[in-house]
Amino acid sequence: MIRLDKFICSAGSYSRKEAKKLIKDGKVRADGSVCRNADMKIDENKAVVEINGRAVSYSRFSYIIMNKPSGAVCSNDEKGERTVFDILPPELMRKGLFTAGRLDKDTVGLLIITDDGDFSHRLMSPKKHVEKVYYAEGKGKLLKNAEEMFKEGMLLGDERLKSARLNVLYNDGETIKAEITVSEGKYHQVKRMLYKAGIETTYLKRIKIGGLSLDENLKEGDARIMTADEMRLIF
Ligand code: URA
Repeated sequence: MIRLDKFICSAGSYSRKEAKKLIKDGKVRADGSVCRNADMKIDENKAVVEINGRAVSYSRFSYIIMNKPSGAVCSNDEKGERTVFDILPPELMRKGLFTAGRLDKDTVGLLIITDDGDFSHRLMSPKKHVEKVYYAEGKGKLLKNAEEMFKEGMLLGDERLKSARLNVLYNDGETIKAEITVSEGKYHQVKRMLYKAGIETTYLKRIKIGGLSLDENLKEGDARIMTADEMRLIF
């Protein structure tokens, strides 16, 4: 049994505040009757719930997008560090959530938080080729053949990386701005690739996963439930 407002959040990709408003405005029916009580407990497996006359079902898993701020770590174990879960709005918090892939403490941008292991696996598996796009700023002198180095698949340590793309947006010989596209997620991958190409990263932001771009209306530190349309854009 769960609260009606929680059911609405999960089933319709609404925030808790929006769900409460829908309920208060009489837009929600549970088993045929309008229900204006957000606290009412319903059986998520049996109740027939309609939002604006459209039947919806409870989503077993949570899919959250966050615009990760700098200074928060992508980890469940605290060890005194501020984690992305510490800044998750309480209404989105659930047991079993983890980040689908990790961003470094100082990296900002698009992060997916879920409790669906299969989904996370598909997102991260290099075999699935879900591209991740980063915007980077850095200092140093970019090697002349940097773009080819990225394209050919760089050797990092004893590991050969998959082909990646470097799209230089600005380069004055001392600083650069660039977009980097990778389809795997090795430790510090983008920073290490840039370093090999002569650049020390000073700012890194993930701006895209598959076809899903970072929602520019989502301020750094904000998070919300992913919509069904956004979900379809990923794979
Ligand atoms: N590559 C990095 O170096 N850092 C990140 O946070 C993500 C990709």
